[in-house]
Amino acid sequence: FLVDKGNHRHFMEKEIYEQPEVISHALGHYVDFANHTVNAETGLIDFTGVSRLAISACGTAYLAGLVGKYWFERYARLPVEIDVASEFRYREMPLSPDQAALFISQSGETADTLASLRYCKENGLKIGAVVNVKESTIARESDAVFPILAGPEIGVASTKAFTCQLTVLASLAIAAGRARGTITEAEEKELVRHLTEVPRIMSAVLNSIQGQIEQLSRDLSKVKDVLYIGRGTSFPLAMEGALKLKEISYIHAEGYAAGELKHGPIALIDENMPVIVIAPHDRFFEKTVSNMQEVAARGGKIIFITDAKGAAASNLPTMATIVLPEVDELIAPMVFSLPIQLLAYHTAVFMGTDVDQPRNLAKSVTVE
Ligand code: G6P
Repeated sequence: FLVDKGNHRHFMEKEIYEQPEVISHALGHYVDFANHTVNAETGLIDFTGVSRLAISACGTAYLAGLVGKYWFERYARLPVEIDVASEFRYREMPLSPDQAALFISQSGETADTLASLRYCKENGLKIGAVVNVKESTIARESDAVFPILAGPEIGVASTKAFTCQLTVLASLAIAAGRARGTITEAEEKELVRHLTEVPRIMSAVLNSIQGQIEQLSRDLSKVKDVLYIGRGTSFPLAMEGALKLKEISYIHAEGYAAGELKHGPIALIDENMPVIVIAPHDRFFEKTVSNMQEVAARGGKIIFITDAKGAAASNLPTMATIVLPEVDELIAPMVFSLPIQLLAYHTAVFMGTDVDQPRNLAKSVTVE
């Protein structure tokens, strides 16, 4: 059917701004807004007796899976094995039928992800698909389909599909936690309540950060390399930020676990390489700030993406500090996705690249 850009310059921009609405739609499918519980839809896979969860995906979907790993392990005490599909399919990973597997794919047609799915199926695993296209091959070959309900995503660089994938994975991790008895009914209510706040918080953030990000992007469009760092779920988000920037602006970018900084990337730091630090004021905040100090001590320019509490707790000089609302750790990855998406988008716009159709990339990769 017909999809247009509305009032936006690019599909990517439109899709970034659509996120509160589509996440709200996805939540409507997976949670009960009145009772703050997960819905029956999340129960299509019974996680009760599952010994291990395998997750496989490519690109941005893989990074959503990496965030999901933290959630399944924390809330459901379910060990997660995750790999990019191109490795997963050939690793000869030992699998047994008491494991479950999740395949995350916007298109549902990615060749490597489909091959990983078939490998797991041959090994007798219960298969779940987190997909945007419900009629896709991956959906058809799965035992349980979890649609992300993002609507058609046209921009090659994934945005709304990523945050909808996160929304579905968070709901599934809470459901798994309840089924396995690792979170209480009260904890479920608390977590679901946080999830239901995501659309409203995202709308507020989209309205408040636009101007600052545009200004910052002008400076970012002049640099050759960018490093993103974060801890916990902000680590996969750092990788997603780097992926977005390189995909559409062609600026070299890398995402690293903040704790790995001193094991290599610190050698690259000078006044020409901005370091984007993703650090909500969470359990890891102090640790990430000490990594930030290492950057500052070497003359590195810092773009600090944090919340009000985090901004108040650090007095390090920064090139820019982007202040987001204080939110629960569960939903921080959704909220903190916005500045990294907008930063990549506006930087690419300044550079004049083809934002929706970046060179050499395809929306869906159906060949190996
Ligand atoms: C391509 C796209 C990416 C996407 C990846 C996985 O590389 O350009 O945006 O993340 O494929 O696609 P999938 O449809 O499986 O999520």
